[in-house]
Amino acid sequence: MFKRIFTAFAIISLASTALAHDKATGIVKERMDGMGVLSTAMKSILAQTQSKTPDPEALKEAARAIQDHAGEAMTKRFPEGSLDYPSEAKEAIWQDWTRFQHLAQQLDLLAKGLEFAAANPLTGKRAELQDNRMLMDIGAMGPDEVFTLLGKNCVACHKEFRAKKN
Ligand code: HEC
Repeated sequence: MFKRIFTAFAIISLASTALAHDKATGIVKERMDGMGVLSTAMKSILAQTQSKTPDPEALKEAARAIQDHAGEAMTKRFPEGSLDYPSEAKEAIWQDWTRFQHLAQQLDLLAKGLEFAAANPLTGKRAELQDNRMLMDIGAMGPDEVFTLLGKNCVACHKEFRAKKN
C-alpha cells in the first residue's frame, strides 16, 4: 500500500518538477532541456491515461518525444565528469556506466512499446518493471500500464544517479 502511494506520488511530482536550470550552460543545460521534454511528455501521457477517451495520436507523439531523448541521445549528453554547477548528476554515472546506459535504453524500449500500445484500451492496472520484458509484451499492455513502467524507469535512474530526490 505504502509503495503504491509512493509510486503514484513520485510519478506526479516528476511530471511537475520545477525546472531549476536557469543557470546551466553547455552540455548540462542540453541534458536538462532533454529531461524537461521527458517531463512534458509524461504530463501529456498522464493526462491521456486519465481521460475517458485517450487519444492514440497524442500518446504516440509523446512516445516519440521520449524516444528522441532516451537511449544514446540521452547517454551522449553525459560525457565523463560533466558535473558543472547546477548539475544534479552523480559521479556514480561513470562508475556504473553500464547500468546507466541500460536504464536509458530501457526508457527507449518502453517509449517504443507505448507507440504500439497507444490504441489499446486502458486497463486500470499498474505494471512492474521487468528487465527482460520484450517490446511485444509492452505493446500488448494498456497505455496506463506502460505509463507506470515509464514512471518507474525515471524514478529508478534518478534514485541511483541524480542527487536530488523526487
Ligand atoms: C538513465 C538515467 C535517467 C533516466 C532514465 C531519466 N533521467 Fe531524468 N535525470 C537524470 C539525471 C542524471 C539528471 C540530473 C542531470 C543534471 O542535473 O545534470 C536528471 C534530471 C531530470 C530532471 C531535472 C532537469 C533540470 O532542469 O534540472 C527532470 C525534470 C527529469 N530528469 C525528468 C525525467 C523523466 C520524466 C524521466 C522519465 C520519462 C527521466 N528523467 C528519466 C537521469 C535520468
